[in-house]
Amino acid sequence: MKEPGPSLPTAGRKTYDARFRRSRQFEGSAHPRVAIALDCCAVNDKQILITGATNGIGLAAAEALAALGANLAIVGRSKTRTRIASARIRAAVGRGTTVATFIADLSSQASVRRLAAEVLARYPKLDVLINNAGAMYGTRQLTKDGIELTWAVNHLAPFLLSKLLLHRLKESAPARIITTASQAHQGAHIPFDDLNAERSYRGFSRYCETKLANILFTTELARRLDGTGVTANCFHPGLVATGFNRNNGVLMDLGMTILRPVSRSPEKGAETLVWLATSPDVANVSGAYFSDQEQRPSSPEAQDTETAGRLWEISERQCAVSGRSAEARS
Ligand SMILES: NC(=O)c1ccc[n+]([C@@H]2O[C@H](COP(=O)([O-])OP(=O)(O)OC[C@H]3O[C@@H](n4cnc5c(N)ncnc54)[C@H](OP(=O)(O)O)[C@@H]3O)[C@@H](O)[C@H]2O)c1
Repeated sequence: MKEPGPSLPTAGRKTYDARFRRSRQFEGSAHPRVAIALDCCAVNDKQILITGATNGIGLAAAEALAALGANLAIVGRSKTRTRIASARIRAAVGRGTTVATFIADLSSQASVRRLAAEVLARYPKLDVLINNAGAMYGTRQLTKDGIELTWAVNHLAPFLLSKLLLHRLKESAPARIITTASQAHQGAHIPFDDLNAERSYRGFSRYCETKLANILFTTELARRLDGTGVTANCFHPGLVATGFNRNNGVLMDLGMTILRPVSRSPEKGAETLVWLATSPDVANVSGAYFSDQEQRPSSPEAQDTETAGRLWEISERQCAVSGRSAEARS
């Protein structure tokens, strides 16, 4: 079950020793799922916030991070699913672990702003923000903010949440921001002349554009965070058997079932995420794209810093209206 881990650097040996103590503690336990994180170091008392933790990769990562000792806060849009996920994480880890829950529909900018305000009010320190929630939609839908839904959930929500929590992350440095991207970004382009997909909409193409946006966002964020002690990285989890694309009708559902035998488990898909959140190996790496715990080249478009800067400015404008409404209400 245990994959070979990264080589152990001499510096940080103490942390890794702590890791191995924990691994012994969990190996052979009644909760083998937790073993996915054993190649990462303990993160006792680190405050970690993760979105999309009610299912799939996010839930598996949350279980692993809780097992490594993190003070975990999970975000879900359904109270019931979030409560069930929290109970499942606590049951997997045991020993009185607490898991804080926040409810937010990330398709709504007002909801993202409320979430950020609640997090800031509750936590004087935030060590890791994980932007993991994401989805693909077969048909074009608009959010309450008038934004195409995939773009709103996959790109603008991480953009806005990270921006709103940035000050707290900087105060908590060293801190990390991790975003779940995808290899599906390869070959995609940002349609700057049709950002709301009014002229044409194809579910998978749109999804690929948002995953490219995740990488460009990480590039620009890392540039802006240079010298602050806060890193920003993103990763591809592989093809993972989760709830992904199960919301797009019977044929897509069947397609995902057919892909299941060649898909990874959520635990395997979460490994790079857990490693990025905890490992000393990446403490000083920022602006990078990873897969299977290795830095990988992203597409040429994803490495275009001018595009990254342009996307940042446009994203700020796309979030400005909800910002003015929030100011008017306060
Ligand atoms: N599965 C793959 O093969 C694969 C490959 C590459 C990248 N990824 C990326 O991995 C990430 C996690 O996906 P997954 O595969 O684990 O899929 P999943 O099982 O469907 O999980 C998606 C998570 O995102 C949450 N979410 C979706 N829309 C939301 C919204 N509007 N507000 C709040 N939360 C929302 C879901 O919450 P609910 O429980 O409320 O639905 C769920 O917790 C995504 O960013 C996806 O793009 C997946």
